[in-house]
Amino acid sequence: MKITRSALVEWGKEYLEGRGIPGSGVEAELLFLSAGGIARAEFYRDREAPVAPAEEKKYRELIRSRGEREPLFYLLGEREFWSLPIRVAPGVLIPRPETELLVEEAIRLARECGLPFDFDQGKRNAASGPVGLTARRDCGMEKSSSRPNPKPETRNSELNFLDLGTGSGAVALALLTEIREARAWATDLSPEALRIAAGNARRLKLEDRIQFLAGDLFAPLEQYHGFFDLLVCNPPYIPSAVIPTLAPEVANGEPRLALDGGEDGLGVIRRVAEKGFQFLKTPGFLLMEIGDNQARAVEEILARTGGYEEIMILPDLSGRDRVVRAKKK
Ligand SMILES: C[S@@+](CC[C@H](N)C(=O)[O-])C[C@H]1O[C@@H](n2cnc3c(N)ncnc32)[C@H](O)[C@@H]1O
Repeated sequence: MKITRSALVEWGKEYLEGRGIPGSGVEAELLFLSAGGIARAEFYRDREAPVAPAEEKKYRELIRSRGEREPLFYLLGEREFWSLPIRVAPGVLIPRPETELLVEEAIRLARECGLPFDFDQGKRNAASGPVGLTARRDCGMEKSSSRPNPKPETRNSELNFLDLGTGSGAVALALLTEIREARAWATDLSPEALRIAAGNARRLKLEDRIQFLAGDLFAPLEQYHGFFDLLVCNPPYIPSAVIPTLAPEVANGEPRLALDGGEDGLGVIRRVAEKGFQFLKTPGFLLMEIGDNQARAVEEILARTGGYEEIMILPDLSGRDRVVRAKKK
């Protein structure tokens, strides 16, 4: 006799609970929907429907893998970021909700500080969206006479931005969906990450506006000095010794290259700060995600380079210092 949907999901929940997985009920259900390729509404319409043997086998395998602490989103194959379905797989960092602050701030800068932009009103409307962008803020930025702030009817300039360490491409792709005339250059040291990011760009039909470059930070960008309006970066910033203390899904499941910021967590941040301004136009901005308790150190690192001014730290929704913003001098 075939097992019913509800009985199978109950088995999955208990299995995960027994292995100490938090949120086992939700995860058991998400994995069931994924195994059967069915929508939640369809599942709830008939929870007592029998499950086909192939589907049951697939589900039990997914649950066992999750019990071994394989990251949930690798098993699901996708993570939502900025309302976009971003494919993920082992070898690429799973984008985190807190990283959406980088996207919000990039949009805010483009709107408030005269960076060239044009928003895609057909998608998420940033003007009335999550970041409250109606008030114009003084960014302390001179309006360049060679690049005036475009009037609505003559917005035809492009915003060229660099996403350093793009991973799945989540940040760059979110920005491209919001800023119609933006063009992105996205780099990563990991060929696997770039392969996944390029697939995401194709699926989202954004591949014509993004270029992927492989290499160590700025190494593939030698000819791009003074080129970018904006540099966004979510670097690896976890101190090496802290990594083994993280949840096993993260410590053993996600790529070390995406997490490990060296002894003090600031290794990559220092390198980005030291060279970043050379790749920015004037005016141009650096936006970088940082870890808990790194704000003061990062402010000092940026100030010491002599390449930035108006350095400020921005908190995330939970009040934690999350993003540093700096303007090229
Ligand atoms: C924290 S992850 C961020 C991924 C993605 N931007 C996001 O926010 O989800 C850091 C990324 O930087 C890449 N990376 C680490 N060191 C690098 C280096 N020296 N040069 C280029 N990319 C690097 C990693 O492969 C990883 O994809």
